[in-house]
Amino acid sequence: MMRVAVIGARGQLGSDLVARLGAQAIPLGHADIDISDAASVTSVLDRERANAVINCAAYNFVDKAETEREAAMLTNRRGPGLLADYCREHDLKLVHVGTDYVYDGRTGNRPWKEEDEPLPISTYAASKYAGEQLVRAHCPRHFVVRTCGLYGRNAMHGKGNFVETMLRLGRERPELKVVEDQRCTPTATANLASAILDLVKTEEYGLYHATNAGSCSWYEFAKEIMRQSHLPTNVIPITTADYGARARRPHYSVLDCSKLERVLGWNMPTWQEALATYLIERQRPI
Ligand SMILES: NC(=O)c1ccc[n+]([C@@H]2O[C@H](COP(=O)([O-])OP(=O)(O)OC[C@H]3O[C@@H](n4cnc5c(N)ncnc54)[C@H](OP(=O)(O)O)[C@@H]3O)[C@@H](O)[C@H]2O)c1
Repeated sequence: MMRVAVIGARGQLGSDLVARLGAQAIPLGHADIDISDAASVTSVLDRERANAVINCAAYNFVDKAETEREAAMLTNRRGPGLLADYCREHDLKLVHVGTDYVYDGRTGNRPWKEEDEPLPISTYAASKYAGEQLVRAHCPRHFVVRTCGLYGRNAMHGKGNFVETMLRLGRERPELKVVEDQRCTPTATANLASAILDLVKTEEYGLYHATNAGSCSWYEFAKEIMRQSHLPTNVIPITTADYGARARRPHYSVLDCSKLERVLGWNMPTWQEALATYLIERQRPI
C-alpha cells in the first residue's frame, strides 16, 4: 500500500488530501513536524517511512509577510528546500504547492503557462518562488503545482477563506466592496486534491499549473457567491488602490492548466461549478 505523508495536514488542502487518501495518509500537522527545522524533518520522515510526500504547509499571510520576511522565508523557502533534500536522498516523490502570485501580471490577458518567467512582486510571492525553485533544482522526482485562491471545507473551523468571509459579511451587511482589478481563478481544494492525487501516481515529474477552469475578478467571484447563496447583498467594485492592502498583488494571474489536463486525462470543473459544489458541501464535516 502507498503511504503518503501529507504535511500541513490540518490546512484547507491538506485536510482534503487526507480525507481522500484514507488509510494511505500519514497526516502531519504543524504540531507533528516543523518543515523549517532540519532535525524535525529528518526524524519524522525517517520514522514514518512514506513512499511520497505532499507539502501543503506554508506561511500564507500575504500582507503580514511584508514585515515578517524571516518567518515567510523559513516556512516557504527553507522548508521546501529541506524536504527536497530529504526526498532526493531517499528517492521519494515530492509534491510541493506553489502560487499564482509568482507572476506580476505583465501579459495582461493571456493565461500564464509553466514556461513563462515568474516575477514575484511581494515578499510572500518571493518566498514561495524561492521554495519551488529549490524543489525543482534539488529533488528529481518532484511535482511543483502552482494554484490560486484556495477555498476548502476545513477553513470553516479555522482561519476562513474568501467564500466564508463573503458569506459572513453578506449576512451582516447590505453592501460589500470588493476588488475588481485582480483577475485569477479561485480554486476549490476538493478539486485540487483530486488532481494532485492523480498526478502523484504518474512519473510525469515537473511544474504544473492547477486551478479550476475559467477566470474572474474577486468582485465577480463575490457576486457569484451572493447569487448562488440567494443573498441580497449589493456588491460594489473597487480598485486595488482603493482597498489599500500592504502587499502588492498581480492584476492578472490566470493560469493555463492544459499541461495538467493532458497528463490527467480529465478537466478541472469551472470555478462556478466548483463554488456550487462547495456551497452544498461546506457544512459537512471532512
Ligand atoms: N490559500 C490560498 O489562497 C492559496 C493560493 C495559492 C497557493 N496556495 C498554496 O497552497 C498550499 C495550501 O494552502 P492552504 O490554503 O491549504 O494552507 P493553510 O490552510 O494555511 O494550511 C497550511 C498549514 O501549514 C501549517 N504550517 C505552517 N507553517 C508550518 C511549518 N513551518 N511546518 C509545518 N506546518 C506548517 C499550518 O499550521 P498552523 O496554522 O498551525 O501554523 C497550516 O495548517 C500552500 O502551499 C499555499 O501557499 C494557497
